[in-house]
Amino acid sequence: MSLALIVLAAGQGTRMKSDLPKVLHKIGGASLMQHALRAGASLEPERIILVTGHGAEQVEEIALALDPEIEFARQSQQKGTGHAVAQAAPLLADFEGDVAVLYADTPFITSETLARLKAARGSHDIGVLGFEALDPGRYGRLVMKGDSLEKIVEYKEADAATRAITFCNSGIMVAPARLLFALIDALCPDNAAGEYYLTDVIERARAEGLSVTAVSCSEDETLGVNSRAELAQAEAIFQHRARAAAMAAGVTMTAPDTVYLSHDTRLGRDIIVEPHVVFGPGVQVDDGTFIRSFSHLEGCDIGKNAVIGPYARLRPGASLGDAARIGNFVELKNADIGAGAKVNHLSYVGDARVGSRANIGAGTITCNYDGVNKHHTDIGANAFIGSNTMLVAPVSVGRGALTASGSVITKDVPDEALAIARARQDNKPGLARRFFEALRSRKVKSKKKQAE
Ligand code: UD1
Ligand code: MG
Repeated sequence: MSLALIVLAAGQGTRMKSDLPKVLHKIGGASLMQHALRAGASLEPERIILVTGHGAEQVEEIALALDPEIEFARQSQQKGTGHAVAQAAPLLADFEGDVAVLYADTPFITSETLARLKAARGSHDIGVLGFEALDPGRYGRLVMKGDSLEKIVEYKEADAATRAITFCNSGIMVAPARLLFALIDALCPDNAAGEYYLTDVIERARAEGLSVTAVSCSEDETLGVNSRAELAQAEAIFQHRARAAAMAAGVTMTAPDTVYLSHDTRLGRDIIVEPHVVFGPGVQVDDGTFIRSFSHLEGCDIGKNAVIGPYARLRPGASLGDAARIGNFVELKNADIGAGAKVNHLSYVGDARVGSRANIGAGTITCNYDGVNKHHTDIGANAFIGSNTMLVAPVSVGRGALTASGSVITKDVPDEALAIARARQDNKPGLARRFFEALRSRKVKSKKKQAE
C-alpha cells in the first residue's frame, strides 16, 4: 500500500517566545521538523506534504534543503488540526493510498512505533497512536471499547469521567487518504475552541460502521515541544538516548552526562571520550580514537587511533588520517591532516593539507585569509614546521623540509630544504649588565630627588 505523509507545521508556537518558527528550533543539532521527517521517512512515503503557516517561507526553504521532493500546503489561518490536514487534500486528490499524519514539533516517534501503527491500520480502517500518560493534562482522551477506538474527546470538551481516562491521543494517525479527507470535509467547528478538530473524525468513522483501533507507545516518544523548557527537556532525552546508543555500540564515556552528541554523530568502536566533549553536526570518528576533555568537533572526519585534545577545536572540513595527533588549543578548519601527523600545541591550521607524519610545531599559524580571499597551504609528508612559524598562504612546504622557528614563510619551500625567514641574532657582550646598571642608578637618583 502506498503512503503519503502529512506533517503539520503551521502552528505559531507562541510559548517559545521566538522569532524563529517553533519547528526550526533544534535538538541534537537538527530542527524538530528534521527529526519528525526522519521518523516519517521510516514509513517509506511516496509523497511528503508539509503543512506550513507561521514562518512558512523560512520553514519551506529549510525543508527543501532536507528533501527537494517535499511538497507544501499553506494554511494561512490556523483553524485547527482538521483544517490543517484538509490543506493537503488538493495535492492528494488522485492519491489512492494511505496517509499518515505527523506533527513537526514531535521529534521522538520511533520507526518501530510507526511500523506497529501501520500494521494495525492493515487490519482496521483507521489506526491512531496513543499513550498512557502519567499526567494526562490537556491531551485528547482516547475512549476505547476493547480494541476499538470509539472516539477522541478533546480536554476542553471532556466531562469529569472522560478526563479521568489516562490513555491519550498523540495526534498521529494512519487512514486511507480518500476516507480521511471525506471525514474531514464533514467536520464542524462547533466546539469550545471553535476549531476543526482532526480528532472528531473518529466518532464519525465509527458512526459510519468503520473499524478504528489505537496502538500504544511510550509517553516520551510523543513528547511535543511547546516552550523553551520543553525544548531543553527534549534535548536531555535526546542526549540520554544518543549517549546510551554510543556506549552500546562500543564507545567508552568517562562521564556520559557531560558529552553532547548530534543527531548524525557517527562513532566507531573502542573510542574513548573524556568528560566535556561536544560533537556538533557532521562528525564521524573511526575506531580506537581518543578524544580528550573540552574538545569541540563539528563537520569533521577522524581516522583510526587518533588522539584529539584536550581543548582541541575541529571545525568543518577538518579531516584526520589514522593516528594523527591534535593537541591542546589547536584549531583546525578545512584542513586535511595526514596519517601520523602531529599538531600538538597552540596552532591554527586552516585551508591546508598536512602530509603524513609531518610535525607542526607549537604556535604555528596558517595565515589563510588576506581580508578578502582564503588561500591554501600545502605541507608535504615528513615536513617539520618549527615553532611559531607563520605560513603566509598561498604557500607550500615540500616533503621532508624544515622551517626554522619563528619564520614567516612567504615563498614555497622545496622538498628537503631548510627555510629560515627571521632576523639574524646579534649578541652584544656585557650589554645586558650595563643596561640594568644604568636603569638601577637612574631609579636611585630619582628617589633621592623626590626625598629632597
Ligand atoms: C492535539 C490533539 C490532541 C492531542 C495533542 C497531542 C486535536 C484537535 N487535538 O491537541 O488530541 O492529545 O495534539 O499533542 O487534534 N497545527 C497546524 N494548524 C492548525 C493547528 C495545529 O498546523 O491550525 C499543528 C501544530 O503546529 C502542531 C499540531 O498541529 O504541530 C498540533 O496542534 P496543537 O495546537 O498543539 O494541538 P493540541 O491542542 O496540542
Ligand atoms: Mg500541542
